[in-house]
Amino acid sequence: MTARQQREVWATKVGLVLALAGNAVGLGNLLRFPRQVAENGGGAFMVPYFISLILMGIPLMWVELAMGRRGGVYGYGTTPGMFGLLWRHPAARYVGALGILITSALVIYYTYIVSWCMGYAFFSAAGTYFGETSQTAMGSFFDGYLGVEKNQYFSGIGAAYFFFVATLLLVVWILSRGVVKGLETLARIAMPVLFVLGVALVARVLTLEPNPANPGWNVGAGLGFIWNPDLSRLGDGKVWLAAAGQIFFTLSLGFGAIQTYASYIREKQDLALTGLAAASVNEGVEVIIGGTLAIPAAVVFFGPMQTQAIASGGSFSLGFLSLPVVFQQMPFGQFFGSMWFLLLFLAGVTSSVAMAQPAMAFLQEDFRLTRPRAALVVGAVMLVLIQPVIFFQRYGFLDEMDYWVGTFGLVVMALIEVILFAWVFGMDRAWGEITRGAELAIPRVFYYVIKYVTPLFLVVILVVWTWQEAIGMLLMRGVVPEAVPYRWGARLLILGLFAAILFGVHKRWGGKPMDEMEHPS
Ligand code: ALA
Repeated sequence: MTARQQREVWATKVGLVLALAGNAVGLGNLLRFPRQVAENGGGAFMVPYFISLILMGIPLMWVELAMGRRGGVYGYGTTPGMFGLLWRHPAARYVGALGILITSALVIYYTYIVSWCMGYAFFSAAGTYFGETSQTAMGSFFDGYLGVEKNQYFSGIGAAYFFFVATLLLVVWILSRGVVKGLETLARIAMPVLFVLGVALVARVLTLEPNPANPGWNVGAGLGFIWNPDLSRLGDGKVWLAAAGQIFFTLSLGFGAIQTYASYIREKQDLALTGLAAASVNEGVEVIIGGTLAIPAAVVFFGPMQTQAIASGGSFSLGFLSLPVVFQQMPFGQFFGSMWFLLLFLAGVTSSVAMAQPAMAFLQEDFRLTRPRAALVVGAVMLVLIQPVIFFQRYGFLDEMDYWVGTFGLVVMALIEVILFAWVFGMDRAWGEITRGAELAIPRVFYYVIKYVTPLFLVVILVVWTWQEAIGMLLMRGVVPEAVPYRWGARLLILGLFAAILFGVHKRWGGKPMDEMEHPS
């Protein structure tokens, strides 16, 4: 039996597109995107955003799909094996360990945030926070929930723990069911429900009546707030970085997760149309649903000035502090509140399983663990490593991890993979991989985009980002002294996880010759 025959493959084309879309659509679309737009020049943000989508997002989606499908053909579901197929050098597999690190570190805190959505869906349905009509009160509710402070709402971290464990069990259960019965079935159920919830909430926001005392605070003003272009921001490098960063995060590029999903695609099955379809679904949810919900609703109830302040306060304050206040002022607020958090939860959980799948594939393929065992190991590691994130949240533990793996790391990984694919493996062969079985003729110009423009774009972003931000972050400029040890702790956690993955890669491949089976040319 060849390696290929032992691996699962997606059962249907629709299931594959929905699974890839579920991988991409997440909290990034509904919480991160509206805040980025509002903070970075409104409609003007969309110019660098769409340029990044075309010059980096779509090309990298095709690159990752092609790399992943090729890996699957030779029995590799993770980037160490895949990089080994592209680059005939023993270092390739160690470099590929980055793809397992990024997804495995991200999935830990991402799933924790997803569990807040489950908790808040419950609190909304039960009306727990109803009566707390100010943002300050909702801020205390949030801090109490997260265990940042003890207050009249929560005496400890118990509720947050409960919802985290419940979310984790769900994730582990889905993973243990495998690609078709677990991941594909989840996507086939969750994605349509997500569309229905999203469209219903959009309809609700678009029909919100302004308060007669503030007739100017209406939906039109809300949409204007998010979409009116401030063209003066177009020359601002920060806006370009924010737009590019959003494209990576929202499409799950530079993670290692798209490759693993692609490794379950049949050898001659289309990638061109599939990738474009999944990216289009993601963009539809992001721009239409994500762009219409949180910010316009906040403007109707708080006015543009306060919404600006809320948006600068972070993605969470918009979703978890302001919208709960908004729901309390609507008829059927409990219902709409639970819908909003359920929408976030579904979007998030389909991304969580996608980020956990590379670790699953690594354990199953390289350490011969059975699927249920691999799922248990993944769940246990997540449960252990979430502890410092939960307990040291107030010191920026989560923010530190998110910066290095969820922002900076993505660009590093994307640059490495596009160089390996287009330059080391070679653009002619790469193009052959991308277009094999294609049901859509990809314009030839993308051959050159992938070869020259995408890598160049990535280098520029990486250099500017390092210069403008990463050095300051590395030196912890602006971090309050008492948070410094905890931020170091977050770095050590990432490095420790990386060391463990590298050790695993070494055990699997270290010293083994690159024979023809392992490295077909
Ligand atoms: N792409 C996922 C999101 O947008 C990670 O949340």
